[in-house]
Amino acid sequence: MWKDIQEAPADAILGLTEAFKNDTNPDKVNLGVGVYKDEQGLTPVLKCIKAAERVLVDEQDSKGYLPMTGSPSYAANVQKLLFGAESEVISSRRAATAQTPGGTGALRVGADLLNKFKPEATLWVSTPTWANHKGIFSSAGFKIGDYPYYNPATRGVDFDGMLECLSAVPTGDIVLMHVCCHNPTGVDLTDDQWDQIVAIAVDKGWTPFLDFAYQGFGDSLESDRDAVEKFAAAGIDFYVASSFSKNFGLYNERTGALTVVSPTAEESKVAMSHLKVAIRTNYSNPPAHGGLAADGVLNDPTLYAQWVDEVAEMRVRIKEMRQALVDGLAARGVEQDFSFIAEQRGMFSFSGLSDEVVAWLKENKAIYIVKGGRINVAGLTPSNIDYVCDAIAVALKA
Ligand code: LMR
Repeated sequence: MWKDIQEAPADAILGLTEAFKNDTNPDKVNLGVGVYKDEQGLTPVLKCIKAAERVLVDEQDSKGYLPMTGSPSYAANVQKLLFGAESEVISSRRAATAQTPGGTGALRVGADLLNKFKPEATLWVSTPTWANHKGIFSSAGFKIGDYPYYNPATRGVDFDGMLECLSAVPTGDIVLMHVCCHNPTGVDLTDDQWDQIVAIAVDKGWTPFLDFAYQGFGDSLESDRDAVEKFAAAGIDFYVASSFSKNFGLYNERTGALTVVSPTAEESKVAMSHLKVAIRTNYSNPPAHGGLAADGVLNDPTLYAQWVDEVAEMRVRIKEMRQALVDGLAARGVEQDFSFIAEQRGMFSFSGLSDEVVAWLKENKAIYIVKGGRINVAGLTPSNIDYVCDAIAVALKA
C-alpha cells in the first residue's frame, strides 16, 4: 500500500535527535530536543528518583494494571503541586486528575475529551508554539487558530495583539497557553497580564487549556504555578496538561497528568467518567513506573526536600549557561546584542538565529538547533560552550 505514498517529513524536534545520533562528527552538540544535561553533558537520573526506585523494586509485589486514571496517590500529589496543598479546588473536589503517558499523552487525552463534546470548536495556539501542539490537536479533529504571542522586534510578548485576538475568540472555543517557560520563546506573561487573560476567559466564555511542562524551571515550583492558581480562583472550567519529564528527569518513563477543573464537584464527577472513556479507548491505563517513583518522592518529606534542591540545581545551571552564551558571543565581537537570552526563562532560548544560520551550524559544525532558532540552553556545558560560541560567531560573520 505504500508504493504511491510519499514519506512523511521528519519530526521538527525528534527528527533532529535522529540525525544527531547518526552524525559521526566527534564535536557534535545537540541543542535541539528539550532534555536537561548536567555539566558533563549527561542526562542524570535524579538522586531522589533513584532512592524512590530502590524502594519500589524492593517493595513492589505486583505489576498488575493501574486504574484507568492511574494511581490515586499520584493524582492527589499532582493536584497539590498544581494548585498548592491548601487550595480550595482540592478541598471542593473540583479537579479530576488522571496519570498520563507524559505531557503529550495528557494533551492528547484532553484533546479527545474536548473534541467529543465540542467537535465544532477551534483550538487556538500561540505564535509560535511547541512544534507538536498543532499536530496533537488537529489529529484529534480540531481546527487550529493562531493568536499573536511573540514580537521579534521587542523580543517580548505582543500583549496588545494577544489581548485583541483572545477578546474575539468565540465562546466555546479552546485556548492553549503555556503556564511558564514558554516553549519555544522562553518569554512569559507577567502577573498582571495573566490577570487580564483570566478576566477575558471568564468574560468571553472560551476554555483555557494550560500546558505546564516546566514547573520549577522558571523561578520555583510554587511561583511557577501562579497562572494556574489564578484560573482556579476564577471558578471556571479549564484543563491542565502537566509533565514530570523535565522536573523529575523522567523523560523516557512518560510520566504526566491531565487535570480537568470544573466549577463544582458534581460536574467534576461527570468529567472524570468521560476522562476514563477517553483513556480506555486510547491506551487503557497508564504506564506505572515513573508515576510510582515520582509519587514515592512526593510522599517522603526527605526525598521531597532533595527533589526541590535538584530542581533548583538544574534551574541555576541553565541560567548560568544563558549568561555564558551571552558573554561568550560578546567576547567574540559579535555585533548583535544577545543580552536578551539571559532574560528568557526555562530550558529554551529563542535565539533569533535565522534558519540559514541554523542550517549552516548543522552542516558545518554539527551543532543541532531547532528550525526557527530555538536553542536548548540545557544542552550547553562548560565543555562545549566555547565551541558553540566560536561557531555562532563565525556563522554570523559568514
Ligand atoms: C521539546 O520541546 O524539545 C520537548 O518538549 C521534547 C519534545 O517532545 O518535543
